[in-house]
Amino acid sequence: MTGGDVTGGESSRAGLFVTFEGGDGAGKTTQATLLEEWLRADGRDVVRTREPGGTEVGVLIRDIVLHHRGEVAPRAEALLYAADRAHHIETVVRPALDRGDVVIQDRYLDSSVAYQGAGRVLGRDEVRSLSLWATEGLLPDLTVLLDLDPAAARLRLDADDKPFDRLEAERETFHVRVREEFLALAAAEPGRFLVLDASLPAGQLADAVRERLRSLLAAG
Ligand code: TYD
Repeated sequence: MTGGDVTGGESSRAGLFVTFEGGDGAGKTTQATLLEEWLRADGRDVVRTREPGGTEVGVLIRDIVLHHRGEVAPRAEALLYAADRAHHIETVVRPALDRGDVVIQDRYLDSSVAYQGAGRVLGRDEVRSLSLWATEGLLPDLTVLLDLDPAAARLRLDADDKPFDRLEAERETFHVRVREEFLALAAAEPGRFLVLDASLPAGQLADAVRERLRSLLAAG
């Protein structure tokens, strides 16, 4: 299987595709919300979405991957995330990009590479190829990686007082591998990634994201 044509940053794209990545508890939702508010105040049309679970079908898949009790075979798990992604990109994200909207998305294919790859059963390249096949090669214009030490992230999650989902409940070594994988992905594609220290104040992080957005929007 090949990944097909990789279409990240393609000049013909009318809209802008921005994804937020990072471990659980890194503050993606806060930053995505701040960016959405800033863009809307500037009069932009914004679609705010997430994976898994950005569509009706996706909500059903999300329930399986995050809340099913008992084992899910690693290849099945990777295919479930890819199925969610395929449907979401075709029915929500590509139409929004074609309209010229800014799409702000919580998690995308880098999460699959980091999480499904970090289980050590599946290789980084095969997980990535599966996602590229599922999305016909769609890559974001910008991926903001909120990097945080898993021990600090765990303290934030504990303070939230919500029950852990399947992946949050994984051992610390798993989350250390996820973090390393995200950083390796960012190092391999420095043009697409903006890596930020997620322990910084939210306002400072939002400023850094806006600065990058300004130059992307100015570039057309
Ligand atoms: P998320 O929506 O960020 O969780 P929450 O709503 O609790 O903040 O992500 C759900 C989990 O799914 C997260 O632990 C990472 C995992 N995940 C994968 O393992 N692979 C993927 O491809 C994606 C998109 C998420």
